[in-house]
Amino acid sequence: MSDATLTAPVGRPTKQTVMIYTRYERFWHWSQAVLIFVLAMSGFGLHGTHGLVPFGLAVKVHSFAAIALIVLWIFTTFWHFTTGQWRQYLPKLSGLPAVIRFYAWGILTGAPHPYTKTLKRKQNALQSLAYLSFMVIIGPALWSSGIVYLTYPWWAHAAIGTIGLPAVAFIHTAAAFLMVTFVMIHVYMTTTGKTPTHYVKTMITGYDTIELTAAEAAYLAEEEREKPRL
Ligand code: HEM
Repeated sequence: MSDATLTAPVGRPTKQTVMIYTRYERFWHWSQAVLIFVLAMSGFGLHGTHGLVPFGLAVKVHSFAAIALIVLWIFTTFWHFTTGQWRQYLPKLSGLPAVIRFYAWGILTGAPHPYTKTLKRKQNALQSLAYLSFMVIIGPALWSSGIVYLTYPWWAHAAIGTIGLPAVAFIHTAAAFLMVTFVMIHVYMTTTGKTPTHYVKTMITGYDTIELTAAEAAYLAEEEREKPRL
């Protein structure tokens, strides 16, 4: 869909239930969630925070899940660039103060959310900023330190007697704490929709009711008509 088609101001906007999260988007979101949960449980198990998983098993599970997550991230990065969806993460800073004011205060007084989801902009400014920091800071800090950690047997001879390994372990554990903090805030935020489960349902079904410009509605109706009947 070209930008020109999407923004042409033809007729009045309408509210419609449309697919905003494609099948691949939902697949990578939920598989990433499961893998991060498994990595956090096994990682903090081998770190000694809890004793729910034996050390040897925790190392094995952690290594397999880490490789699976890295493969998923490679595919998903490719998907973001080939579909142009990476633009969704560019935060529009002008909208940020209003969204922060809403979460700090307005949410407690029942104020309306200052942002409405559109097809071109599925996330509000705060969400884009949070996901951007997830993708450019927390994610890379974890996988880069994790890969260095994983390859320790190859560089152990050079690191003996240095702070090499403790430094890598420190960066990895610090990033893991940031990841857990991110996930906790993220899960809380998912409960702040029209109902506590509204956003979760949207990420499961892919559908949400949003305002469409007349041009977007016409485009989607046309696309629906042209779909091959299987
Ligand atoms: C994404 C790629 C990741 C890779 C390649 C990776 C790799 C590793 C490796 C090799 C270890 C050391 C295991 C051992 O001692 O033999 C480790 C430890 C650990 N990982 Fe990961 N990991 C990744 C993601 C994560 C995630 C997402 C979390 C948590 C949210 C996490 C949390 C931890 C923790 C807490 C430790 C223990 C650190 C310590 O006490 O030294 N990791 N990781």
